[in-house]
Amino acid sequence: MPIYHKLGKIPQKRHTQFEKPNGGLYYEQLFGTIGFDGMSSLSYHVHRPTQVKEIGKAVDMSPKIAVEKNITSRKLIGFDVQPKDDFSEAREPLLVNNDVHIGLAAPKKSITDYFYKNADADEMLFIHKGSGTLKTFLGNIPFEYGDYLIIPRGMIYKIEFDTEDNRILYAESFHPIYTPKRYRNWFGQLLEHSPYCERDYKLPQDLQTFDEKGQFLMKIKKQGMLHQLVYATHPFDVVGWDGYNFPYGFSIHNFEPITGRVHQPPPVHQTFETNAFVVCSFCPRLYDYHPKAIPAPYNHSNIDSDEVLYYVDGDFMSRTGIGPGHISLHPAGIPHGPHPGTYEASIGKKGTEELAVMIDTFKPLMVTENALKIDDGKYYKSWLE
Ligand SMILES: [Fe+2]
Repeated sequence: MPIYHKLGKIPQKRHTQFEKPNGGLYYEQLFGTIGFDGMSSLSYHVHRPTQVKEIGKAVDMSPKIAVEKNITSRKLIGFDVQPKDDFSEAREPLLVNNDVHIGLAAPKKSITDYFYKNADADEMLFIHKGSGTLKTFLGNIPFEYGDYLIIPRGMIYKIEFDTEDNRILYAESFHPIYTPKRYRNWFGQLLEHSPYCERDYKLPQDLQTFDEKGQFLMKIKKQGMLHQLVYATHPFDVVGWDGYNFPYGFSIHNFEPITGRVHQPPPVHQTFETNAFVVCSFCPRLYDYHPKAIPAPYNHSNIDSDEVLYYVDGDFMSRTGIGPGHISLHPAGIPHGPHPGTYEASIGKKGTEELAVMIDTFKPLMVTENALKIDDGKYYKSWLE
């Protein structure tokens, strides 16, 4: 997160004595990334954050691959993913490679009896349905329909939902998720041409400190396993922190589309970047205004990227037979483009209400068994005239 933020009480000078009101010292923790070169935060804990009591059985959460080498365009019916009570069990990995696991989850219940940490991956949760609060050891972030939640690896969190009807697109990224570099100046500030700015971020707030001892179960995802550790103190015992490494939210509704006289390429929709994939937001916008413009995209060969589009709301102008919750996969190696009829039908249209999230990966995606269960099986023929 390329801005500085702080919550609670911190000492004037880092790495110095920070005394508790009733005697003793708070315990400082450096929470860093990329060795000691990446973004980091310093947090101050009531108890040592290292007090492991027990280590229980680990559960294998690795995706089960059905198609390792895929060249089939696919449509997945995302709302056919069955709701499950538990947040981590509800996650269904669909399209995966060594860089990212993309999946859907329909969790019904809040996390109440454990804490969760993904030690391997930055997580992007896109909230399609539902609202609630992301609770972390660095503060809370209320979320609602249309929010991206970016949770850097290692953040300890719980998630609280307001109702049972929740739908989440998620990406577990084994590379850090950043804002696109070309949107930032050399100090990290978002530039005038960026489609969003720092004011749009939902930063952690309302830091709550729990000074409690007992049994605290933490489920830690690492190397595909969900490890279960019992800690002796409450993981949310931070009295203050500052730095650059923290979770944040951003609403897709705050993404300001960039439009032009003729069709603008996908990078104008870019929202986040990593070394291995990009995330784009397709938002309601005015169409191209050249007198001879064709608002629908041209056919394109994303010859070295797999393209995953998650349809959120509105009519997607270049597709037929697509509805909310659907995922299309257009694999690298073959061209794709607008469906028959949509190219011509787009001419003269003034705007679109489409809302979609795109994830383009630079390495091919494998298709999981979960994905095949919700695959319509005939999408690859949908361009036939
Ligand atoms: Fe495309």
